Amino acid sequence: MKTIRLINELQELLDRSKRDNQTVGFVPTMGFLHEGHLSLVEHARKENDIVVMSIFVNPAQFGPGEDFEAYPRDEQHDAKLASEAGVDILFIPDPDEMYPQDGGIQILPGPQASSLCGATRPGHFDGVLKVVLKLFNIVDPDHSYFGMKDAQQLAIIETFVRDFNLRTKIVRVPTIREEDGLAKSSRNVNLSIEERLVAPAIQKALKIGEELFHQGLQVEEIVEEVANQITSNSPGRIDYVSLLAYPSLLPYTTDAREAIIACAVKFEKTRLIDNIIMSTKG
Ligand code: PAJ
Repeated sequence: MKTIRLINELQELLDRSKRDNQTVGFVPTMGFLHEGHLSLVEHARKENDIVVMSIFVNPAQFGPGEDFEAYPRDEQHDAKLASEAGVDILFIPDPDEMYPQDGGIQILPGPQASSLCGATRPGHFDGVLKVVLKLFNIVDPDHSYFGMKDAQQLAIIETFVRDFNLRTKIVRVPTIREEDGLAKSSRNVNLSIEERLVAPAIQKALKIGEELFHQGLQVEEIVEEVANQITSNSPGRIDYVSLLAYPSLLPYTTDAREAIIACAVKFEKTRLIDNIIMSTKG
């Protein structure tokens, strides 16, 4: 595995591979890798000749008072995990080269960004789209891998790629979980021991919501029950619980093919998100 920090160095290397008709799979991350990220690599490894992973804690997607400084980082350990998982090129750009100056041009997501995390994190998805477009332009991947764990991010990026004719194919990868059901996340290390013990209540509550959905209960009843389940089984404070059509993220109606039940829960030092995508065909 090669670790590269300069954009032109990465591009020169990739230009050579592309001249040899090698396909490129891309896994963008913010590092502090876990099995969720490595599962994206596994998919990319099977479907491409070259696998590129980026690690960049993107300041543009953190709002004031969010956890940019506290976001966990461990470059050495990440490099070891990435190499073992079969990454060929680890791209760790320098923030000064990624954001040398700001010409004020903005990329704004559409209505998909107004619900779920977008409702309480204004500007978050603007920052995600900004960095993802830059990374797509730098790497020019054939396939790009994103986790269903961040289902809203995935839906917005799919729309971005479709609407702006970006030349990469987005591949959806299912959420990887701990044995007790907690979705793997770089932020889980910021849970206290007590919080970590009860955090699986989030996934359990969403599963109950899924069951109620298939039983045909009303959206409001399901959302209320899921929220009750979370607050009665953990000290977490609910940021949101929502049930929407997926991937449009519009209010759910029975003609939607898929629905998402999603939540964000705030603990003392960290905020966790999780979701279940439900097929409406039962
Ligand atoms: P990060 O949170 O590091 O996640 C990188 C990728 O890993 C995302 O596609 C995310 O959905 C996926 N992922 C995280 N946890 C997962 C899990 N438990 N199972 C499966 N996939 C999982 O998402 C970002 O970084 C950033 O917003 C980024 C897209 C890199 C732009 O900065």
